[in-house]
Amino acid sequence: LYEMIFSAVKPLALKAAVLLNLPDIIATRGNGGPLSAEQIAFHIAAANSSSTGNSHVDVGYLYRILRFLASYGVFAEQEEADQPDDAETKKIKFGLTGISKLLVHGGNGQSRGPVLLLIANNVLLEAFQHLHESVLEGCYTFNKAHGMDLWEYLANNLEFNKIFNEAMATNTRSVMASVAKMYEDGFKSMATLVDVGGGMGSALSIIVKEHSHIRGINLDLPHVIATASITGVEHMEGNMFEHIPSADAVMMKWILHDWADEECVNCREEATTQRSEGKVLVVSSCCGDKSEACRAIGLLYDISMMVTHWWKNER
Ligand SMILES: C[S@@+](CC[C@H](N)C(=O)[O-])C[C@H]1O[C@@H](n2cnc3c(N)ncnc32)[C@H](O)[C@@H]1O
Repeated sequence: LYEMIFSAVKPLALKAAVLLNLPDIIATRGNGGPLSAEQIAFHIAAANSSSTGNSHVDVGYLYRILRFLASYGVFAEQEEADQPDDAETKKIKFGLTGISKLLVHGGNGQSRGPVLLLIANNVLLEAFQHLHESVLEGCYTFNKAHGMDLWEYLANNLEFNKIFNEAMATNTRSVMASVAKMYEDGFKSMATLVDVGGGMGSALSIIVKEHSHIRGINLDLPHVIATASITGVEHMEGNMFEHIPSADAVMMKWILHDWADEECVNCREEATTQRSEGKVLVVSSCCGDKSEACRAIGLLYDISMMVTHWWKNER
C-alpha cells in the first residue's frame, strides 16, 4: 500500500531530472560514462549561470533525486574508483540506463521528455483530483476541474497547448517511421492524404519524406495549426466533424480514442462522404497480446483517457 501511496513521487522526481537536463548532462558531459552528483552540479551551474546568471546548485538535493531515480532503474549507480575499502560512505557516480537514454535529446531526436512534461503537468494532475466526483456525479473529470473540455482548454492556454502538441509530436516521431515502412504499398498508391487531427503535422511529414509523391494536408483546430510550422505539408484549419477535404486517403492517428462511439461514426462518415473508393487509415494503440505488462500499461492509459476525455466506455 505504501509503495502505491508514494508512487506519485516517481513522475515528479523524473520531471525534476528532465527540467535539470540530467540525462543530457550525463550523455554529453560524461562521454558515455557516469558522473558524480558534484560533477553534474558543476555542469548545471555552468549552464544556468550563462543563461540566467544563477550558478547555485544544492548538491545534497541533487544527489537524493539521482539516488531515488537510480533505485527505479532510471540511472545506473557505480562506485567511484580508488576509494579506501573502509570508507564509511562510498562515493557514487550515475550513468545512463535504457530508461534515461530515452530522455536524452539530440542524436535521433527521440527524447520522450515532452510526454513526461505533459503527464506530470499540473493541468492534468488537477483534473485527477476530481476522479471520485465523476463516479458520484457521472461528470466529465477534466471539465469538473477546469470548467471546460480539454480542446477548449488547449485553445485558451497557449503554454499548455504547446506542451500538449509537443508531447503528441514526440509520440508520433517514435512510431511513424515504422508505420511509413509497414504500409509502404498503400502509401505508394495514393497521391493525396489528409491527416485528420494531425497536430503539428509530424506524422504527415514523416510519411511525405518517405513517399515524396504524396501531397499531405494536415487538418486540425485553429489553435493547433497556429503552432504548426513543419514544412513539406499543407496546414489547414478546420473541424473534422464539419468538413474533411477530399483526398485519396484520410488518416486518423490517435483520434478515435478521444471520442465516444457516436462521434467516431460521425467523423468516419464525414471522412467517407466524398470518397467512394478512398481509404480511411486508423493508427491507434492497442493491447492485442494481453500480456500482463501490456494490460497494466493499457489500464494506465484507460484511466488517463477517462480523466481527459468525455466518453464512458473502455476500449
Ligand atoms: C490525441 S491528439 C493526436 C494528434 C496527432 N494525430 C498525433 O497522433 O500526434 C488529437 C488531435 O485532434 C485534434 N482535434 C480535436 N478535435 C478536433 C476537431 N473537431 N477537428 C479537427 N481536429 C481536432 C486535436 O487538436 C489534436 O491535435
